[in-house]
Amino acid sequence: MPVDVVLGLQWGDEGKGKIVDFLAPSYDIVARFQGGPNAGHTIYMGDSKVVLHSIPSGVLHERPINLIGNGVVLDPAQFAMEVQQLESLGIDLYGKLLISERAHLILPTHRLLDASSESHMGERRIGSTLRGIGPAYTDKAARQGLRVGDIRFGDFVRRYEALRDAHLRRLDQQVSLDLAQQEQQWWAGIERMRAFRLVSGEQVLYEALSQKQLILAEGAQGTMLDIDFGTYPYVTSSNTTAGGVCTGLGIPPTAIRSVLGVIKAYCTRVGSGPFPTELNDETGERLRQAGQEFGATTGRPRRCGWLDLVAVRYAIRLSGVQQLIVTKADVLNGFDPVQVATAYLVNGQPTEQFPYDLVRQKAVPVYRPLRGWNLNHQAASHCETLQAFLDFVAQYTGVPVSHVSTGPQREQVVCFA
Ligand code: IMP
Repeated sequence: MPVDVVLGLQWGDEGKGKIVDFLAPSYDIVARFQGGPNAGHTIYMGDSKVVLHSIPSGVLHERPINLIGNGVVLDPAQFAMEVQQLESLGIDLYGKLLISERAHLILPTHRLLDASSESHMGERRIGSTLRGIGPAYTDKAARQGLRVGDIRFGDFVRRYEALRDAHLRRLDQQVSLDLAQQEQQWWAGIERMRAFRLVSGEQVLYEALSQKQLILAEGAQGTMLDIDFGTYPYVTSSNTTAGGVCTGLGIPPTAIRSVLGVIKAYCTRVGSGPFPTELNDETGERLRQAGQEFGATTGRPRRCGWLDLVAVRYAIRLSGVQQLIVTKADVLNGFDPVQVATAYLVNGQPTEQFPYDLVRQKAVPVYRPLRGWNLNHQAASHCETLQAFLDFVAQYTGVPVSHVSTGPQREQVVCFA
């Protein structure tokens, strides 16, 4: 059972990219199983900052092969930019990046549809990253999407044009159309993709599993943005929970050995939707500045708040998480006390269950204050108050904390396992 899974347990931006990069040298394959360029997985390599949107976060190391799985939606233009970014850092991708032929393509008109849908929703808008993710998954479910493997067939241009024209008929006239330029970049991206091995991802993984190779499945976004279990309708369009690993890569559930859940020591959310522990005050602003909480994909300021253990425990149960990885512990330096939510009051009634609907009913968090720390003065491995915080998280959730990240650099990870 050599598949391990790394998932976000909050609303995304938990620092999964750094953790996958940290773990990657121990694996033969790193495989992204869902989402698309709405993700922004940031990795610091010395002075260089790399932001990966569609390419798996194992790509900066020699050992693993990286697979973009069938559950991903891929934008060729964005993909080409990422390839260029990595090449400028001297990273040769050609031998170590595979793309599933079953992954769906994001068209330029998917992005226009995303923008149009959000502008029609007004107050009720999702706060989408506008990368065309929702419309691309919609076409997939409507059985009219284009897949990566389709680029090899002679009718691809005709099929592209037919889908594009169907999209254009749905768009209203106000949408600004610099489409010709976007299409040019898109087709250049398609040419770039042709240089890579377009594979049957499920067959590659079947063979790897047969040879007892080690596979790391990389999730994007977070559990609370899952299409089924997140704060619907303020969610993304894919399954970000462990179930998405099997459908997004074509591996059996019995192949999964362990599930690692990543959480920040506090909590953030980008875009609209419920966020029970959000702080709309000075403390929230202090967290934003200390944590540099601005979107890696859109640059939007992230909403900030305290760690919500009700939501984290819900996420753990959904995916069978066996180990927790806590990131950005250093951001809480000097915050004292540090609050964690252990229950909600819904209609005045206390509950530890994550409610069905947080849009029509408000959840007021019940906090437990814990003593703060300062990792500028004390090493994480010897800091009693940080240890007490981690013990509290482990005790409340029933899941041990295996690693703590204490800064953006690769080496700033403390292992407790
Ligand atoms: P979409 O997936 O771009 O349609 O966005 C849907 C919702 O998920 C919006 O609230 C986005 O801000 C949020 N979202 C999508 N991808 C990410 C991510 O990688 N990190 C954090 N939030 C995300």
